Amino acid sequence: MTLPRRALLGAGLATGAGMALAGCTGEAPATPEQRQPPPFDPKDWASVRAQFALDPNLAHFAAFVFASHPAPVRAAIERHRAALDSDTAGYLRQDIDLEEKARTAVAGYLGCNVLDLALTDSTTMGMGLLCGGMKLGPGQEVLTTEHDFVGTYAALDNLAARTGAPVRRVTLYDDPAAATEADIVTRLRAGIGPRTRMVVVTWVHSGTGVRLPIKAIAAMLAEVNASRDPAERALLAVDGVHGFAAVDTTVTDLGCDFLTAGTHKWLHGPRGTGLLWAKSWDPVAPVIPSFSLDEGPGQRATPGGYHTFEHRWAVTEAVEFHRAIGRDRIAARIQEQATRLKEGLATIPKVTLITPRDPAVSAGLVMCQVGDLMPANAVQALRDQHRIVASATPYARSYLRFGPSMVTTPEQVDQVVKAVATL
Ligand SMILES: Cc1ncc(COP(=O)(O)O)c(C=O)c1O
Repeated sequence: MTLPRRALLGAGLATGAGMALAGCTGEAPATPEQRQPPPFDPKDWASVRAQFALDPNLAHFAAFVFASHPAPVRAAIERHRAALDSDTAGYLRQDIDLEEKARTAVAGYLGCNVLDLALTDSTTMGMGLLCGGMKLGPGQEVLTTEHDFVGTYAALDNLAARTGAPVRRVTLYDDPAAATEADIVTRLRAGIGPRTRMVVVTWVHSGTGVRLPIKAIAAMLAEVNASRDPAERALLAVDGVHGFAAVDTTVTDLGCDFLTAGTHKWLHGPRGTGLLWAKSWDPVAPVIPSFSLDEGPGQRATPGGYHTFEHRWAVTEAVEFHRAIGRDRIAARIQEQATRLKEGLATIPKVTLITPRDPAVSAGLVMCQVGDLMPANAVQALRDQHRIVASATPYARSYLRFGPSMVTTPEQVDQVVKAVATL
């Protein structure tokens, strides 16, 4: 399963040769002065939206693909960049450990022990570190699904080549719109063999919008594992990128063993930042040498080398921004808009809703198919004719995709419904 890099990037941002300047409305970008936001009132959604430098002439329903940062994150990046440019060695040597500050902020948000958290550049890097380091015994195997991201499949191909372990896939639903928690858990359970050591799933599927019941899956695995030796237990690894900072839950609530996510999507954190968490790092060998050899296992699993530290350290401000608004309020805002969007789209005769309407098995992503219109063409028409930014899913079966978030409004959701009806 391969998708050309351009297809992946292009599907998220825009499509078609004419969209090389994705996001560009033909107007000059805002000057630094114009980008000065009004005071931040976390209780006021208009004020929250005003912290972003996103083009106000567009309705940004693909903001989750790759983050635009709110003002405090932009300011932190600029602050770190200026200090590094001015006295790199001095700033790196200062007393405040900015990397640990960022790790502590993310750990607090995720609800995990800070010592178990590795900082990465992306979800994909986290999955690569996990699959690249996973220790498997002879005869052990891996189970994944037909609904995962191309990066997960590539990481699992590498794992299979390294260890010789078979990687099997199960289908968790035939019709995404009709997916149910119980059926998903039953189908996954049926795929688990006596030697399955690792179960790799995606929390919220970026191809269909289906949200997996991770907690129920973890409970099912706990039953399976009850009679197994520790070294034979099936461990649950989750690509959590479209759930993290979009769904109001902690990693303890989820109950999985590993979670990888980018902090540059729903958290609106600095581009090129992410996390990998493990309940226990014992089954995972280090892949990239760390710069923190004496600390916790999460630190030791954090790839060493010099990074774009101005971005990594500004994750702290991204978490603080979310915390000020409230994870529960953000999740509720996303769900309110996603539900409104699904209800609106469902009234249009030529539209087939792909994502389940039930919030228990969906999150912020909303996919649909408009008659026989190619999703890429729908994306283009929405942008050109309605100034709505959507995306087409980069999977073998592509759909038109929207991601309502804190940078969109219920009124814009209604505009999307009206616009889709005209397509
Ligand atoms: C399910 C899923 N996982 C991973 C990624 C890649 O995320 P990252 O850029 O953080 O590696 C994407 C999309 O970009 C995705 O949809």
